Amino acid sequence: MTSFAILVSGRGSNMEALAEAVRDGRLDARIDFVAADSAEAPALEKARKKGIDTFVLPYAAEGKKKAEEFLSGLCSTRRVEWIVLAGFMRILSPEFVRAHTGRIVNIHPSLLPSFPGKDGIGDAWKLGVAVTGVTIHLVDEGVDSGTILAQRPVEIHPEDTFEIVEKKIHDAEHALYWKTLSELFRGALPVERRW
Ligand code: GRF
Repeated sequence: MTSFAILVSGRGSNMEALAEAVRDGRLDARIDFVAADSAEAPALEKARKKGIDTFVLPYAAEGKKKAEEFLSGLCSTRRVEWIVLAGFMRILSPEFVRAHTGRIVNIHPSLLPSFPGKDGIGDAWKLGVAVTGVTIHLVDEGVDSGTILAQRPVEIHPEDTFEIVEKKIHDAEHALYWKTLSELFRGALPVERRW
């Protein structure tokens, strides 16, 4: 069975949605571990409660290079096939990305290539767009620039508050991530031809 690791930094709602999809059989795969870049990430406790092994990557104590070496070591000893980013707020180094080419997936809260970066929802909101959305993509050496695997649009209506837009985006993320991973893991997405 396909096994994957999830990297998190924050509250972990996407990690939870993926864990639920695995639990009820919608996503035919195994979450091998959840790792965070900080011990403070609320997602860690949520993962532990679901019985998933968790790790803290030593970014703060030992820096990026050592943290990525630790992560690579975990992935190879535990034979993890895919690395799934779910609100992971660090940029992975080109060396790490090259070592795992085509095996790292990210979710971003906008319709890329619009609004890359840290605040995809806020940037779209501030500009007043009528349609934004969610993108799932492979990670390459750039920022939010890899091959797009799936997108889902989200409309912003004049009466919407920012909180409503955030909720619509997160609901779209939770509905799209497991589905896309399921297709990707089954080899049902035509990604090879784009590499
Ligand atoms: C999501 O909006 C995701 O697209 C972005 O960071 C947010 C993480 O939310 N990369 P959560 O931690 O999964 O709740």
